[in-house]
Amino acid sequence: MALITASAPGKLMLFGEHAVVYNRPCIVTAVGLRIFSTVEEIETNNIEVETNGLHIISIDEILDPTHMQAKDVSFVLAAVASLFRKYGGIRTGIRIITKGPEQSYGLGSSSAVTVATIKALGDLFGLKLSLTDIFDLSYQAVLAVQGKASGFDVAAAVYGGTIYYLTGGKRVEPLNVETLPVIIGYSGQKVSTIGYINVVQSLIQRLPWAVNPIFDLIGEIVESAKRYMLVGDWQAVGELANINQGLLESIGVNTDQLSKIIFAARGAGAWGAKLSGAGGGDCMFAICDNHTSDQVMNAMEQAGSKIISFKLNAEGVQLENN
Ligand code: PMV
Repeated sequence: MALITASAPGKLMLFGEHAVVYNRPCIVTAVGLRIFSTVEEIETNNIEVETNGLHIISIDEILDPTHMQAKDVSFVLAAVASLFRKYGGIRTGIRIITKGPEQSYGLGSSSAVTVATIKALGDLFGLKLSLTDIFDLSYQAVLAVQGKASGFDVAAAVYGGTIYYLTGGKRVEPLNVETLPVIIGYSGQKVSTIGYINVVQSLIQRLPWAVNPIFDLIGEIVESAKRYMLVGDWQAVGELANINQGLLESIGVNTDQLSKIIFAARGAGAWGAKLSGAGGGDCMFAICDNHTSDQVMNAMEQAGSKIISFKLNAEGVQLENN
């Protein structure tokens, strides 16, 4: 039987995290941390997923929203459920094998595996899914697992490149930037994205008069960063990263360790540095020119960061030859 493999990239949030959950824009770039999903039909009524061991789940369990799925495979199974719900005629057993780098540094492996699985399944069943279809099905799957999410990581995995994005995919605008003078540093694992989304939700419920203007300002920073990125004024983009970082600090998602690396990068001559994503750990990035990049990297390492070197502006979801 046919074996279909698709791959999708991870992501690095550049500007606008958290605010993008509340109807403000963000800018994200796809990173070359690719996750591969290989699918084939099997003659049982089960979905078999091979990711860190073999997980076998019946089709009925997959479609039962109250059934708790193992954490390692929750996004893959949600992807299958999302497709089965939309296309009621498809109810066959499937084997899915996923592969990716050993460590994913919080750079979007969950959204990437979801998107790669939807793309591969779409091809397996001859569904002719457009990129918008793949986005919609994948976003439904991510929402089913996570409850609350803007979908920016799904958009990066689907479309690739660097994109200006509005909550729920209301706008997806590719930004024509060739190179991004960005160094990524990993600060250590964070607890959970949804945990930090909840921290911010509680803050906005209690202090809307304080948090809403901060989110408005973050939205303005995104607009301005987009303009400066398009003309290649990376010094100005760096300054905006610093302001965005200050605003993220003010809503309580920064950590000592992230700050240490961010200040080290700035001290070594970076134009700017900020955390990337939900906060509480994972990655930060620095923006600097070629002349200072070695000293910035050294300073970040001295401050306890691991330098992560994936390609930026990476290609979106694609089929792979088996
Ligand atoms: O923690 P990450 O890298 O998955 O980023 C989450 C970004 C948020 O804006 C906090 C959530 C979202 O879905 O946009």
